[in-house]
Amino acid sequence: MNIFQFDSEQAWINGVVSLWRDRLRVRPRSRICLTSGHTPLKIYQAMRQACAAGQVSFAQAEVFALDDFGGLAADDPGRCPSMLREYLIDGTDLPKERFHTIDTEALDLEKVCRAYDALIGPGFDLCILGIGLNGHVGLNEPGSPLDSVTRRVELHPSTVEASAKYLEHSNLPRWGVGVGLKQLLGSNELWLLANGRSKAEIVRRVVRGEISEDVPASLARRHANSFLFLDSEAAGRLVHASD
Ligand code: PGA
Repeated sequence: MNIFQFDSEQAWINGVVSLWRDRLRVRPRSRICLTSGHTPLKIYQAMRQACAAGQVSFAQAEVFALDDFGGLAADDPGRCPSMLREYLIDGTDLPKERFHTIDTEALDLEKVCRAYDALIGPGFDLCILGIGLNGHVGLNEPGSPLDSVTRRVELHPSTVEASAKYLEHSNLPRWGVGVGLKQLLGSNELWLLANGRSKAEIVRRVVRGEISEDVPASLARRHANSFLFLDSEAAGRLVHASD
């Protein structure tokens, strides 16, 4: 895993955006999987601005939402597709039909999941992920098997608790549907993002702890082309780590 540590949050945003623009220039037809959550929002805003300024284009790209909560209103702003649309997609030239999301309202969820996996194929060109406080990536909670595919997942209690920050009500989601580790780890490039002090301890475990399904983000260390982008606060426990 390649680790990039930036001196400030702004440098972290600029660094990730600059590399992402390069990737899209080199491979305009990139098939990209995007997380929501709070971590990438400023990066998405900067990418949207770059697109508006004509510095990058999504016109030939394809974007897949990493996951979505179940049991929330279709237009709930805390859902993954809503956040992606608001912070990135709606301000870019990505054709609407090339933004893919998971229909968690469908009666036949199994069918929806198999169709999503078929659309994804073996993996993405680029996967941009956050890291949950418990080490999850997307809805791959601790203990998720390496060969897991898109599926319904019961949320870990800490993920239920963390979801409150995205929502303007107290009807917290208990389950969701997310892309599995098989497709994420099958991607050509895997980017993990973390910023802020609250992520310092899980970042330390991801980088210095055992590579284990108990900390799904640590599995990225086995990926031949994975990158971890950290601001100085998220990297704060790497510097002095003795283990
Ligand atoms: P956050 O969530 O970006 O809101 O911290 C990270 C995650 O759960 O993947």
